[in-house]
Amino acid sequence: MPEPKNFFIKTFGCQMNVYDSDKMKDIFLANNIQPTEDSFNADYIVLNTCHIREKATEKTFSDLGKIHKKGKKDQKVIVAGCVAQAEGELIQKRAPYVDLVIGPQSIQSLNTFLKKDDISKAAITEFDAIEKFDTLNLIKRNHNSKSAFVTIQEGCDKFCHFCVVPYTRGAEYSRSVYELVDEVKALVDLGVVEFTLLGQNVNAYHGADAAGQPHTLASLINTISEIGGVERITYSTSHPINMTDDLIQLHGSNDKLMPYLHLPVQSGSDNVLKLMNRKHTRDYYFEIIEKVRKAKPDIALSSDFIIGFPGETDQDFEDTLDLIQRVKYMNSYSFKYSPRPGTPAANKELISDEILDERLARTQALLNEQQMEYNKKFIQKTVQVLIDGAGKHEGQVKGKSEFNQSVALQGEKQIIGQIIPVQIKEVLTHSLLGERA
Ligand code: SAH
Ligand code: SF4
Ligand code: F3S
Repeated sequence: MPEPKNFFIKTFGCQMNVYDSDKMKDIFLANNIQPTEDSFNADYIVLNTCHIREKATEKTFSDLGKIHKKGKKDQKVIVAGCVAQAEGELIQKRAPYVDLVIGPQSIQSLNTFLKKDDISKAAITEFDAIEKFDTLNLIKRNHNSKSAFVTIQEGCDKFCHFCVVPYTRGAEYSRSVYELVDEVKALVDLGVVEFTLLGQNVNAYHGADAAGQPHTLASLINTISEIGGVERITYSTSHPINMTDDLIQLHGSNDKLMPYLHLPVQSGSDNVLKLMNRKHTRDYYFEIIEKVRKAKPDIALSSDFIIGFPGETDQDFEDTLDLIQRVKYMNSYSFKYSPRPGTPAANKELISDEILDERLARTQALLNEQQMEYNKKFIQKTVQVLIDGAGKHEGQVKGKSEFNQSVALQGEKQIIGQIIPVQIKEVLTHSLLGERA
């Protein structure tokens, strides 16, 4: 008997890449290839790459260089994800030892590759979301955690001027309601209770049911919440202009929908929002937040901010700080603007690094302060925590509250996988400490 073959996947970027890596894992397992932690000695190594910021391409080549030098003889090297999509040809030219280059909507080609091992060396970067999911739907699922991501929508048609996603993930495509229901049921059978519905523009979802009728995200969430065994639902990432009233109202009426919303605004200045092609104003964002809070007063809000987009003046930046002060977030992510090749903003004049650093530091200080304030209100209160693993310290377990907070507590490993009430005792910078209530 020959030794069974094994694989290693390194995942960068967003949750949608995590989902795709899970699917590639399923493909390997279906071909009887087992996971290993030893990347350089794996028979197959996959880099599932992200192109969203900074020197993503250079980072990929430097990783590939290391693999080429240290990887075992005959190791098959696969580059997937958004750098593969954007720079497929360059990868083949500069790293000819790479065996397969597959874009995010072509990961199903991995199956053909494993079966034949001789498919064309051309980069496979077609945008074919239908074929992707049709093929993946047939592959047996494996999952050993209580939470799962489910990609319900691919691509994006918004074309914000800073963003590569419409180019790396293609046009918006919504999966059908019935195939998603099947996927959720299969995951429930594997023990999953918490579902995060994913899309780069998830609230623009418009998938059809069996009769061909389009559904909204709100009606999809209602359908999924009725599946026995589903306890928690969240969705990410939403665009403010697709925050429709039915979705907002659902936060007040569907108990399985978690009181947490990630709603990126990117900037608090109307001038910058316009330059970014975000298609909404600052007041429009405030209106949405007000409606959401009316439907669900204790909802936890988070956002993404891009600091120093070309053309951002001191006053524009102050407007962003002012928006943060007014909204009050539970946590948020902020990034220095990074010019991306091929996007409309790519060649605009950049703001100096010094100014960027200062603005980013002020933004992050304010966001951290808000996170602390938000979390402090939970001291002595009880939250419901889905325990998902061992904590950092001996005898500790950790998990996520319904408000998406990280919570650690003393507890036996046997409670991993359960949702338990936890009384909060102490607030740390990015997590909470509690006791079982
Ligand atoms: N679809 C989501 C986000 C996609 S990318 C949305 O519409 O909000 C995730 C985050 O990366 C973005 O919210 C943005 O804050 C950040 N980002 C995207 N392009 C960037 C760039 N060129 N420079 C810096 N940050 C960027
Ligand atoms: Fe990128 Fe804008 Fe689409 Fe989000 S909405 S993925 S930021 S283009
Ligand atoms: Fe990165 Fe692609 Fe996601 S660029 S953020 S992995 S969609």
